[in-house]
Amino acid sequence: MSVLKDKVVVITGGGGLLGRNFSRAVAAQGGVAVIADLNMEAALAVEQSINKDFSGHALAAELDITDKDSIDRLIQLLEQRYGKIDAVVNNAYPRNKNFGRKFEDIEYQDLCENLNLHLAGYLLVSQRFARHFESHGNGNIINMASVYGCIAPRFDIYKGTSMTNPLEYAAIKSGIIHSTHYLAQYLKGKGIRVNCLSPGGILDRQPEPFLRAYREYCNDKGMLDPEDVCGTLVFLLSDASKYMTGQNLIVDDGFTL
Ligand SMILES: NC(=O)c1ccc[n+]([C@@H]2O[C@H](COP(=O)([O-])OP(=O)(O)OC[C@H]3O[C@@H](n4cnc5c(N)ncnc54)[C@H](O)[C@@H]3O)[C@@H](O)[C@H]2O)c1
Repeated sequence: MSVLKDKVVVITGGGGLLGRNFSRAVAAQGGVAVIADLNMEAALAVEQSINKDFSGHALAAELDITDKDSIDRLIQLLEQRYGKIDAVVNNAYPRNKNFGRKFEDIEYQDLCENLNLHLAGYLLVSQRFARHFESHGNGNIINMASVYGCIAPRFDIYKGTSMTNPLEYAAIKSGIIHSTHYLAQYLKGKGIRVNCLSPGGILDRQPEPFLRAYREYCNDKGMLDPEDVCGTLVFLLSDASKYMTGQNLIVDDGFTL
């Protein structure tokens, strides 16, 4: 199967947990995965690992989603190298060192900085790529949101652990979901579609009591492996979803039900 044959797909934060799996899934489907990350070392490691199995299907590139010039430089580089860009996946996860404090302890500066890095970063990437896509008459923007942009937190699952669900995250992810609706409407008729993908929690060595409590809300597995979300991303990138725009697909084993 190669449903993404020759599609050039930029994955921001491609060096991270979901990003490296998304990049591999794109390459496995015949596309070119551009692993665009602030952390070049991580991006190069992903590039090397993918190219070992799918030669020429991965490219590491430096990107800061909060820097307009950095985004424009990447677009220019890809335009020169491939002559086109088919899609961008807003998947980076920037946060400052104080991200995730309890509501009572959040400082105004940290709140602003985290919203700016993440929500505004996604919007800046969307603006620069939409500009490019519009000039080519086609494009596909996929925004990574989360179940916690969709429903109120389930604080009970964190009991007995040091984990919590940060307020900034809820504000950022719900903002990303509604911005997806806004941009899909704004860009209608320009050959550009904009959708959102909202996964449930992803397994990453979380404590067992939390995993058990989380699973109670689910259909079967509970927290998911990164690979469990890849099929939906490939669908959104492929022509099978050609007439979908402005949607938010939730992949969460029933957690939000
Ligand atoms: N992991 C989960 O449980 C989960 C669940 C639902 C949604 N998500 C969402 O999926 C996306 C990816 O999450 P993840 O867990 O793989 O994150 P991660 O922390 O593993 O990886 C994030 C990547 O983003 C890069 N990055 C940070 N700031 C950047 C910037 N300014 N410019 C470019 N790259 C930058 C980092 O270097 C890193 O490689 C995020 O939007 C996250 O909110 C994650």
